Amino acid sequence: MIGVGGATPLPVLDNHALSALVDTSDDWIRSRTGITQRHLASSDVSLVDLASEAAQAALVHAGVATESVDLILLATSTPDDLFGTASLVQARLGAHNAVAFDLTAACSGFIFGLVTAAQYLRAGTYRTVVLIGADILSRWVDWSDRRTCILFGDGAGAVVLQADATDQLLGFELRSDGRLNHYLTLGYEPDPQTLVESVTIGQGKFKPIFMNGREVYRFAVTQVPEVIEKALFRAGLTTDDIDWLLLHQANQRILDAVADRLGIPREKVISNVSDYGNTSAASIPLALSEVVANGQIKPGDVVAAAGFGAGLTWGAAIFRWH
Ligand code: COA
Repeated sequence: MIGVGGATPLPVLDNHALSALVDTSDDWIRSRTGITQRHLASSDVSLVDLASEAAQAALVHAGVATESVDLILLATSTPDDLFGTASLVQARLGAHNAVAFDLTAACSGFIFGLVTAAQYLRAGTYRTVVLIGADILSRWVDWSDRRTCILFGDGAGAVVLQADATDQLLGFELRSDGRLNHYLTLGYEPDPQTLVESVTIGQGKFKPIFMNGREVYRFAVTQVPEVIEKALFRAGLTTDDIDWLLLHQANQRILDAVADRLGIPREKVISNVSDYGNTSAASIPLALSEVVANGQIKPGDVVAAAGFGAGLTWGAAIFRWH
């Protein structure tokens, strides 16, 4: 990883303003989630806008020219185009030598993308990869459902990865369990339409996000420490070797509970959930871009990153910041 960048839309909705929309309060949201505000994309902002801005910032930070990008991976669950949005980002960046495709693993998308990118780099197939995590979940939230609308925000983050003699992905563990899919969904609901006699199709629409908050919370605090420990084992490291714990920014209580279970002190836990809410695939690179920009993370630091979310999917990656 040689560069990182982030992008968030400008309009901010804080908890007080949100309390005018649904029956909730700043106190309730902060005590249950640690979130105080979220950035939301206006109707004239596209996923391509946010993803391209983050990718461009990461390329500048890395000092890498767009022409030398071989692969663009866009982790998202909220594409502008269901056929794929990565190629639109490629066009916006002018990265004409790259191949680009979307990858969907909800809030685990960045970690799944990181491991996918590392395989291409290790195999020698590609030398330079831009990995973007970007989501505009505000378009899929039911803004009358106080159990979910308080949680989510919009944003994008990106990293530039380059093949290097010293492999910086030290260990990883990826998991999914479709039997638990119903705990967190953004599902398609077909509406039967008869075209001609005996030919009925299902042209419906996606329903807003549904979540069983308690089950998702339970899942996260039990499963995430386990995959981090497995990834550490593969890396030949222990929790004492971790300089930074960089979890998907879903909820401060989850970050604290996972850190406690692993015995990692709070000062090693990276958190910006208060300012952005849960930005899904964007949350890990967005938080990384902030701590790199403010100098908290130093070259050589070991980062234990983990994502979790719909699918259900979850995974951890241990890497050394270049
Ligand atoms: N404001 C005020 N009250 C609310 C509320 C809100 N925004 N949302 C729910 N409540 C109420 C409920 O109606 C319920 O009231 P009742 O007891 O009268 O029925 C009460 O608060 C408790 O609801 P519950 O759902 O049990 O709350 P909780 O303590 O589990 O907290 C979450 C809810 C969503 C904060 C918590 O479950 C959570 O963080 N889950 C993980 C979610 C997550 O991170 N998802 C994304 C993963 S990628």
